[in-house]
Amino acid sequence: MDHMLRNEENLLSKIATNDGHGENSAYFDGWKAYDADPYHPTKNPNGVIQMGLAENQLAFDLVQEWVRNNPKASICTAEGVDDFKDIAIYQDYHGLPEFRNAVARFMGRVRGNRVRFDPDRIVMSGGATGAQETLAFCLADPGDAFLVPTPYYPGNDRDLTWRTGVRLLHVVCESSNDFKITRHALESAYNKAQEANIRVKGLLLNNPSNPLGTVLDREALTDSLAFTNDKNIHLICDEIYSATVFSQPDFISIAEIAQENVNCRRDMIHIVYSLSKDLGFPGFRVGVVYSYNDTVVNCARKMSSFGLVSTQTQRLIALMLSDDVFVDKFLSESVKRLGTRHGFLSRGLAQVGIGSLNSNAGLYCWMDLRRLLKEPTFEAEMELWRVIINEVKLNVSPGASFHCSEPGWFRVCFANMDDETMRVALGRIHKFVAQKKGGEASSRRQCRRSKLEISLSFRRLDEIMSPHHSPMSSPMVRART
Ligand SMILES: Cc1ncc(COP(=O)(O)O)c(C=O)c1O
Repeated sequence: MDHMLRNEENLLSKIATNDGHGENSAYFDGWKAYDADPYHPTKNPNGVIQMGLAENQLAFDLVQEWVRNNPKASICTAEGVDDFKDIAIYQDYHGLPEFRNAVARFMGRVRGNRVRFDPDRIVMSGGATGAQETLAFCLADPGDAFLVPTPYYPGNDRDLTWRTGVRLLHVVCESSNDFKITRHALESAYNKAQEANIRVKGLLLNNPSNPLGTVLDREALTDSLAFTNDKNIHLICDEIYSATVFSQPDFISIAEIAQENVNCRRDMIHIVYSLSKDLGFPGFRVGVVYSYNDTVVNCARKMSSFGLVSTQTQRLIALMLSDDVFVDKFLSESVKRLGTRHGFLSRGLAQVGIGSLNSNAGLYCWMDLRRLLKEPTFEAEMELWRVIINEVKLNVSPGASFHCSEPGWFRVCFANMDDETMRVALGRIHKFVAQKKGGEASSRRQCRRSKLEISLSFRRLDEIMSPHHSPMSSPMVRART
């Protein structure tokens, strides 16, 4: 086997044989565990519930209704088949004008029409995944780096670095200020890169954030833009969750900040967008690069041949997003449902003393299980994660896979399932916490007995009695008081 691998390494490229895809991380392991034993309400009620997938399935009924009422949008219907030939033949890589117009208007609409997007700056890509890689190819050379605040979407490691040879350097954000990006953290990451002789080409922001579910405020955006301008580096904003903001504060796009700051280097700003989250269409692979830099638009457009959106999809999206009545109804209803679901989960967690970061966007909660760790290490986080996946049968994603700087945080997705599955999932969490509570009570009794009867090892005693893990300050105990 080893021999074969060595042989393959010689025969194949470095990309084919390196680990840059990141498939071996816990993030993907959770998916594998789900695939091996997927929950089904009747066929497999004890299976794993998938809470590791940031998918927005809460407003599909509205989309289905639109599709039913607009059969001409597909060339595979009696109403649309007359256009079959026009759509099925080769298209140029600029994309259908009506598609770019509709996406530009939609992006403006999602930002409250406070900014206008130029359809000629929209470049198609295979989802945001393709958009990220295209930008990395346009802005950086192998060995160059982008700064990225932690915790961040694990796919960035694959999308920006695997095939491009670009690196990501962490801007360490911490729970003490709700993981806010500070100028100090940016400067410190930049200085570290300088010391290591690594050329920094840009800063990658994700607003609203995956996994935090929070939006960047005006100050953070303005500071980030000032920082990138000072250092003469690019600013990429991944705004894939822009229409998932279900409560205040409002989402502010980097496009608005660029518009307000007339002296900023606009040509160093690039937006990544996709319909995967806002409309819940990850299968359609509709992504875009929106760049204020003409050369980047030009080059990205040529590169888009590698990841075009199929013309049938462009046509469908163009018609759907041009329907203002549908778009208005969809956007308002979608955030209403996301807000309700988020409230249900976060309140349900709070009932058993589990906290989560105060958030107002996205398709997930950033759950705080620090108090359930045996010790504040990533090994303990993995141990707890294994219990959650194997015994509680929930696939949640550990903070380590998002490069979180502190162990004990987990991302829990809530929009990829129906109400009943959500209730089952929450029921399992409640049961797990109740069992832990029972376990802790008995270990406290045991501890008291042990203290009288035998000498405990200091290490074990430390574990039980240390302030961080004190049973009295555990969220389970707090829930009772
Ligand atoms: C922050 C972020 N960026 C990009 C992507 C990739 O999106 P797409 O499916 O459009 O490629 C995701 C998907 O989860 C994401 O969360």
